[in-house]
Amino acid sequence: MGFPKQRLRRLRQNENIRRLVRETHLSIDDLIMPLFVRPGKGIKQLIPSMPGNYQMSVDKITEEAKELEGLGIPGIILFGIPEKKDEMGSGAYADEGIIQEAIIAIKKAVKNILVITDVCMCEYTDHGHCGFVRRDDKTGHFEVDNDMTLELLVKESVSHAKAGADIVAPSDMMDGRVGAIRDGLDENGFDHIPIMAYSAKYSSGFYGPFREAAESTPGFGDRSSYQMDPHNAIEALREVSLDIEEGADIVMVKPALAYLDIIRRIKDSFDHPVAAYNVSGEFSIVKAAAEKGWIDEKRVALEILTGIKRAGADMILTYWAKDAARWLKK
Ligand code: PBG
Repeated sequence: MGFPKQRLRRLRQNENIRRLVRETHLSIDDLIMPLFVRPGKGIKQLIPSMPGNYQMSVDKITEEAKELEGLGIPGIILFGIPEKKDEMGSGAYADEGIIQEAIIAIKKAVKNILVITDVCMCEYTDHGHCGFVRRDDKTGHFEVDNDMTLELLVKESVSHAKAGADIVAPSDMMDGRVGAIRDGLDENGFDHIPIMAYSAKYSSGFYGPFREAAESTPGFGDRSSYQMDPHNAIEALREVSLDIEEGADIVMVKPALAYLDIIRRIKDSFDHPVAAYNVSGEFSIVKAAAEKGWIDEKRVALEILTGIKRAGADMILTYWAKDAARWLKK
């Protein structure tokens, strides 16, 4: 009788065998939780499009950070909603800015969690673009002025580091920002602060809920003149290689799910740690379907995070970090 000698099912028959042959391990060590901080006191305001996520005032976000530390989560990444926005995005680099205040408070109260800061102008400019916008005299079009923006991003990064940030994460996609920020940090005595660069950041519809959460939807135009075109993969390798040359310590792919091939290619082509941002839209579609009873949130979320890990990510920024930390506890 020609029974197959190789039976893969032999290695799947019970959980202990499956544990031994498992190739990918998702753990709390992989997770970074994004948090949104806003002015005020005692505020914890639900973000309707992202169930389970809140805009929090500094006191509340400090409590939250403490809880996340208790769950064993290694890091948080902070996004700020400033009191007021202006043309220069001055809230981004003010010493008494919302993020700076939050970093100081969290660092004082929570000893064992990394505070990563998103470095970008979009939450602070009145038009919602990621940099300083000027009108091109020749074409009459509005354009983000790359090199002017670099100066603001350097100021923002240094002010985060001064407040006590452990890692800065530029997400603006201006050319040359990693090198400029590296120089700025080094000149100000912060040569020990790593840069996690949003290197392959695509122009994506998956950021929709985040823009509601961070109140950062562009008032005109979109971000496609500085974020990557979803059709391109080789270009992502160029972005990563430039960021590494400029001094990036960790490189990031964002979003994650529609870009798993990009994560894998970067992982295979470079030696640097790779982060993946499992973005707001990827989270909200699962939440919405789960609320309707169409899918099992825990099962699907863990499957998604495992998939991102299997694609090659060393760490994952995810709105499931807190839930997953509980789910993964033995
Ligand atoms: C820009 C920034 C964005 C996200 C993280 N940093 C928004 C954008 O580029 O429009 C999106 C994250 C998410 O969707 O979860 N500061």
